[in-house]
Amino acid sequence: MTNSHQQSRNLSAYRGHIVSPIDGSRLNDIRDGLLVVDENGQIVFVGAESEFDKDAANLQDKIIRRLDFGKRLIMPGMVDTHLHLPQVTATGKSGEHLMNWLQRFIFPSEIRCRDAVYARKIAKWFFDEMACNGTTTGVVMTTVHKEATDIAFQIASERGLRVIMGKMMMNANAPPELTEELSASLSASHELCQKWHGADGGRLMYAFTPRFAPTSTSELLKECGKLWQESKGSYLHTHLAESQDEIDFVKGQYPSARSYVDVYHSFGLLGKNSVMAHSIHLDEQDIKLLRETDSSLAHCPSSNFFLKSGVFQYNRILKSGIRFGLGSDVAAGPQMSLFCVMKDANYMQPHDWLGPEELLYRATLGGARALALEARIGSLDAGKEADFIVVDPRRRTGIISDILDRSIDEILSALVFLGDDRIIDATFVRGRQLFSRENQESELVTA
Ligand code: GUN
Ligand code: ZN
Repeated sequence: MTNSHQQSRNLSAYRGHIVSPIDGSRLNDIRDGLLVVDENGQIVFVGAESEFDKDAANLQDKIIRRLDFGKRLIMPGMVDTHLHLPQVTATGKSGEHLMNWLQRFIFPSEIRCRDAVYARKIAKWFFDEMACNGTTTGVVMTTVHKEATDIAFQIASERGLRVIMGKMMMNANAPPELTEELSASLSASHELCQKWHGADGGRLMYAFTPRFAPTSTSELLKECGKLWQESKGSYLHTHLAESQDEIDFVKGQYPSARSYVDVYHSFGLLGKNSVMAHSIHLDEQDIKLLRETDSSLAHCPSSNFFLKSGVFQYNRILKSGIRFGLGSDVAAGPQMSLFCVMKDANYMQPHDWLGPEELLYRATLGGARALALEARIGSLDAGKEADFIVVDPRRRTGIISDILDRSIDEILSALVFLGDDRIIDATFVRGRQLFSRENQESELVTA
């Protein structure tokens, strides 16, 4: 593999079994591999340790820190393309389809974020959860509250996670505590975008976030579309065609629209950097339009199981060329671990098998592509930013103890079918360690 940035100083070297996707069917698999990261958090070398010793001798004396993870896996951090920060307190509340579930469990939990003290507590919890689940990038919805969203950005900034995040926009069909004036919603979103989009060298990014059509007036969708298009490089993040009760509601709001997708399209909400969560109930024309506009999707199988929303048309979307990633959709998804989400993506398809390589790609590089961030993250390659996790499948009961000596196929299968937060030993974003399992240090060799 390659090395770059011959001028780099103060390098950190991580030794272990490197597993990094190339595409949905191929990956780099390097036992006794080395990942070398510079002080800015950029990867300067990935490859076999022996290759480094041969080809990059000039970098040897610049290494100031060495961690040896032995046979453990060094993999790109997980990219969660859709989840809700305030909903970490509301997981596991079952028994209703989407529209009633929102009213009964979710809106009450979101109302609490008007209290800044609570909002701070919940944001800390959320970002700690991301780090210990090995999720290095999240596309995150907050609540309608400007202050709570500002606090969430502050905590993400301090904690070091990579986020695309935005204040929820809602001005219809919601409890009064979550219903905003249109002009206030637009100005708060604009100000938050100005303040945070691109912060810390682009680690923090802003997404304009109309919750979905049912809680928006047509004016909100239209003005939001304009604001997003004027705010260069920002994202648009919303829910689309998740459940039948939602679709029926939208039909009542827009009786003459051909489809839900057309409603969003008519307000200028589709395009590159537009992330549509769920997108289950789509027909051929919807798929064509999403492809033509280069919009991307967040597939959230655990959530779709939980709310009994329907089955994402995985292979049809794959064939269409639409970019898509995986999302935990906490709290409709009961857990944040994308390893659990990968397994559910496979289980959800009634007839098709989704292979571990495809699922691992979807949770990392595929997600990064859906967010147009593949030049920076999603795989371990020289020149990219060092967002990576250290994974030890042996920490999970039910996995054979010599798994790390087995073939890559066996290892990947164990990760996808048995993996969860317990297998994450360490999480790094841009080379900064954000999570470490307690008893890990004693096993590390540090120079
Ligand atoms: N659609 C609109 N809001 C939500 C939400 O909070 N969760 C899910 N799963 N779907 C939604
Ligand atoms: Zn959601």
